[in-house]
Amino acid sequence: MINVAFFYGQLLPWQQSWIEYHPMDASGLHCSLGRLRKDNSMYLDRVIGHRGCAGLAPENSEAALRLAASLGVKAVEVDVALTREGMLPIFHDNSLSRCTNGRGSIRDADWNYLAALDNGSWFDRRFAGSRILQLDQLLALTTELGLMLNLELKVHDTEAEALASAVAERMEKRDEKNDNGLVVSSFSHAALEAYHRLQPRHAIGYLFEGIPSDWQSLAESVGAATIHADASRITEADVARVKTQGYPLFLYTLNQRRQFDRWITAGVDGVFTDYPDRFLGREH
Ligand code: G3P
Ligand code: MG
Repeated sequence: MINVAFFYGQLLPWQQSWIEYHPMDASGLHCSLGRLRKDNSMYLDRVIGHRGCAGLAPENSEAALRLAASLGVKAVEVDVALTREGMLPIFHDNSLSRCTNGRGSIRDADWNYLAALDNGSWFDRRFAGSRILQLDQLLALTTELGLMLNLELKVHDTEAEALASAVAERMEKRDEKNDNGLVVSSFSHAALEAYHRLQPRHAIGYLFEGIPSDWQSLAESVGAATIHADASRITEADVARVKTQGYPLFLYTLNQRRQFDRWITAGVDGVFTDYPDRFLGREH
């Protein structure tokens, strides 16, 4: 009988990724690998709901995740921050004013204040009464909805290590079977380094704007499994550079069908989008 684990281990990361993305093309192998895989690598989907699905519902909210799942989205990206008192809200900005009826910075706010804020009305009155999620609630929700998760560590001050450590501690309690389909990413090298040291079994995604010349040594120094880059700054040559080295590549934030087709054809593995409904069904 074929030794599937050995065979799989001989493949380049992009080849392993291809098998995961094409389960119908390699069904027997895929089924076996689903149980055997221990490396928690690169299993985001082609279409990743950005901040849930930020074009269709309030970003980073429960409503956005539920809507994404109901549309058939399999993977979502959300942002997690650290408050001064050690809470982990799912929130993008440092300032509360754009996406809530509050004022000031999320970092300085206490949880009683944050918990009472409305993070839905600014988007649409239909979402009035929506509340900021904490990491624990988010994890319960993604488990309930069966969503793969890209958790982005948002460092708003100098506390990269503290954020990474608080998230890693919480993730330690998470059921290990959920590690597949989990990528922890950041623009902060310090946050990624700390997270990888504390929680090496989780896949790390290195977030770049443009892809710098030393991208690979940066990625290797934090054990990154995936590369994430700004769709408005990427070139075909960048895609080739990253893919040649065997890394899965994901682009943010991409909302036009023509761009989606262009980059998927160029070899990009998936995109973060505010409007996943535009791309579902165009993945292959
Ligand atoms: O993780 C991809 C993307 O979310 C990074 O940028 O500012 O939308 O968090 P931002
Ligand atoms: Mg983000």
